[in-house]
Amino acid sequence: MAKWFETVAEAQRRAKRRLPGPVYSSLLAGSEKGVTYDDNLDAFSQLEFAPRIAELSAERDQSTSVMGVDISLPVIISPTGVQAVHPEGEVAVARAAANRGTAMGLSSFASRSVEDVIAANPNTFFQVYWTGSREVIEQRLERARAAGAKGLILTLDWTFSYGRDWGSPKIPERLSLKTAIEFAPMALSRPAWLLSFAKSLSLPDLTTPNLTPPGGTAPTFFGAYGEWMQTAPPSWKDIAWLAEKWGGPLMVKGVSRVDDAKKAVDSGATALSVSNHGGNNLDTTPAAIRYLPSVAQAVGDKVDVVLDGGIRRGGDVVKALALGAKAVMIGRAYLWGLATNGQGGVENVLDLMRGGIDSALLGLGKSSVKELSMDDVHIPDGFLRSF
Ligand SMILES: Cc1cc2nc3c(=O)[nH]c(=O)nc-3n(C[C@H](O)[C@H](O)[C@H](O)COP(=O)(O)O)c2cc1C
Repeated sequence: MAKWFETVAEAQRRAKRRLPGPVYSSLLAGSEKGVTYDDNLDAFSQLEFAPRIAELSAERDQSTSVMGVDISLPVIISPTGVQAVHPEGEVAVARAAANRGTAMGLSSFASRSVEDVIAANPNTFFQVYWTGSREVIEQRLERARAAGAKGLILTLDWTFSYGRDWGSPKIPERLSLKTAIEFAPMALSRPAWLLSFAKSLSLPDLTTPNLTPPGGTAPTFFGAYGEWMQTAPPSWKDIAWLAEKWGGPLMVKGVSRVDDAKKAVDSGATALSVSNHGGNNLDTTPAAIRYLPSVAQAVGDKVDVVLDGGIRRGGDVVKALALGAKAVMIGRAYLWGLATNGQGGVENVLDLMRGGIDSALLGLGKSSVKELSMDDVHIPDGFLRSF
């Protein structure tokens, strides 16, 4: 079968066939009833384009910048934690992003080190949660700085929600021989996936090398999660402290409310991601695109406002830009590409985004992503939210 896929939906179908059931479900994620997950996707279908037919532009420019980094298309890699779905994981994603001229967000729960990832893509933003003491957080920042991270992403919308009406996957803490045998029936029904690890002489890595204490060993994913659960959530003062310690471009990720957006900017954020964590958190939060305009109108002239959640095609990117985002971040879209075909799969997804953005710009009569505005899209009554 040819490895190239024509849409993200096709990549997702292939990932489902290729991955063991629990691994596929971990990427699909979602929470509780899945209302937010679904709305992130449905909301884009409810927005309609208002195309033109003449005086269209023969040349269309997609370049922009986020957090001081120039990118060749308005799509960057959102940080995600479980890229051990492929032996090269985050390094493959970083290379793909570099080859396609865009930036990489690297999760602190990633399976590959910040040093390896920055070697593959110098335009990397390191993502942290508020977990551990201030001293420990500072050590992580300093490590990311020493590695050359171009910016920091502070994700603040995690609620430790668990339980999904469709069932949560069982994932082993470490893939030892014992758990490998336990999972063998599922893994053996996915020989291509297993073979990709056999070829790299490694087992899926469920440790978090970016959370290693100085001189210590990398905690397991669940060990790191335990520390986080025991950490008191941050105040605005804590966030301002982190912004000052970092002293460089800082994105606060997970913003829904206008008051929070303003406080994040006052606390030192230079960028915001309007996001509900891809529907993995507090279920029945509306689709992020619904409250993007309220946040963009409040602070878009002061900081870079990006959106993530539900982007599956170039047209979705164009709608988000028309509603006020400077760029978008993608999560599952590239994870399906990675699971299906490693680095090439992620490049394939970025190419699909670029192609779709170009078609939409052509149809809307724009020569640059910077010309997009609310006029280009019909927003149905009752669509928008403002908190
Ligand atoms: C499997 C998975 C793991 C994720 N891990 C993280 C993470 O470690 N840090 C973070 O800030 N966001 C994380 N996210 C959220 C993404 O960065 C992003 O907000 C979300 O995936 C966007 O929605 P989309 O998948 O519909 O594009 C994760 C999302 C998924 C699906």
